[in-house]
Amino acid sequence: MKIDAPEYYTESYRPQFHFTPEEKWMNDPNGLVYNNGNYHLFYQYYPDSTIWGPMHWGHAISKDLVKWEHKPIALYPDKHGLIFSGSAVMDTKNTSGFGTVENPAMVAIFTYHDMEGEQAGKMDFQTQGIAYSLDDGNTWTKYEGNPVIGNNGIKDFRDPKVFWNEKEQNWTMLFVAGDHLQIWSSPNLKEWDKVSEFGKDKGAHGGVWECPDLFPLTIEGTDEEKWVLLISINPGAPNGGSGTQYFIGDFDGITFTTDQTENKWIDLGRDNYAGVTFNHTPNNDRIFIGWMSNWDYARDTPTEKWRSAMTVPRKLSLRKIEDEVFLINYPIEKFSEITDKAYTEGEMELKQEQKKIIALKYGNQSEIKFSVKNPVLKMYLSNDAGDSLAIDMDANNELVTIDRDKSGKTDFSEKFKGGAQRMDISKLPKENVEVRILLDHSSMELFLNKGQYVMTNQIFPNEFYTSLTIENTANEAVQIVNFKECKVERIWN
Ligand code: FRU
Repeated sequence: MKIDAPEYYTESYRPQFHFTPEEKWMNDPNGLVYNNGNYHLFYQYYPDSTIWGPMHWGHAISKDLVKWEHKPIALYPDKHGLIFSGSAVMDTKNTSGFGTVENPAMVAIFTYHDMEGEQAGKMDFQTQGIAYSLDDGNTWTKYEGNPVIGNNGIKDFRDPKVFWNEKEQNWTMLFVAGDHLQIWSSPNLKEWDKVSEFGKDKGAHGGVWECPDLFPLTIEGTDEEKWVLLISINPGAPNGGSGTQYFIGDFDGITFTTDQTENKWIDLGRDNYAGVTFNHTPNNDRIFIGWMSNWDYARDTPTEKWRSAMTVPRKLSLRKIEDEVFLINYPIEKFSEITDKAYTEGEMELKQEQKKIIALKYGNQSEIKFSVKNPVLKMYLSNDAGDSLAIDMDANNELVTIDRDKSGKTDFSEKFKGGAQRMDISKLPKENVEVRILLDHSSMELFLNKGQYVMTNQIFPNEFYTSLTIENTANEAVQIVNFKECKVERIWN
């Protein structure tokens, strides 16, 4: 919509290379779908306030998942309720009859949330509805037969993810029902039957299950295919509040099964929630976007015009390390095109207990990257205002901690501080490990070993960080290879 105005997107804390709405409240990514050269990002949106309220679906498109163009609001609340999270598909076989095979419908599948019903103390206030667009997501028609799945008394009954099921040659819908996942199937997106359930006795249950996703991936370097189930949970994340767990298992077209016993998390930072993946991407790439916030304090963060951002789009893959399969999430390759390759510091050796202070050129909007054999290092990002964000990588004790309690403004919510966030890195290989940090005004994403271990956090420094201190805490010299700090271009023209 608004392009080329110099003041555009320059408010304090405004991310420059992460997606944010022009103004007002945003939460979960919804309806991620690729069609005709465009990636569509819909999102939970409240156009009247910077605090959560009656939900709409906002909309943006991108040709490369880097630069975005804002579009008008796609879905408005109606007599069935508010428009909660969900997904979108291209009905290329015209199973629904909404479009034609030549001009297939884009179909959105979402949860209706009947606020009055909820306030009246009913339990059946969430149902699933659909809408379609015949003009690439610009205008939408709600299906007159909504809701397509009613509710017989389950309080949390939401967040449908639909995909085309090759094996069964029909549509599969997953959604959550409080403490478990339900799987339904349909020939035409309108009539649905329940086929299976998963999860009452699996995974973490410290809070309600939300925003499921299910997809196959091949383990890197093998022909072995596994299915991955994502389940967001709030509260109950290991470092507090909202978080996203994953299960690696099998899906026979009807039932998901896993022998995984340990709880696994896609990101051990505090700000990556409700993430899901795109349908119908070219080359079948599995691309994930998460909401970079946490319900513990999402409504309180110190921005004025808009609230919250999405993570950078991340490519998902499966990697076997020793005997364990990890879900890897790492910024899409295209993203490297907006990082400046010019500024490279090169190699450095840190003797035992040595500390090196590096002046940051672009402490607000940068990528910091290096490789190290065995990361036993403390790092601080700091500024003259006395703010300091601490990252302690201790591969000898198989632990990374991030402490943002002194990273900048924290007094807007009691729950934003919380001491050191912990991430077990016991399966980090002891060979050149890449450490990559993305800093963007109000966020910090840490990727270890190309997405094996990830921590995403919001931060609100009082001034831009101007220095990076790296301290060797190992009992031996540490070689830091290919160190660079470079500017990341802004994605808003
Ligand atoms: C997750 C969530 C979803 C719900 C939406 C409402 O953050 O709670 O379960 O559909 O947000 O905005």
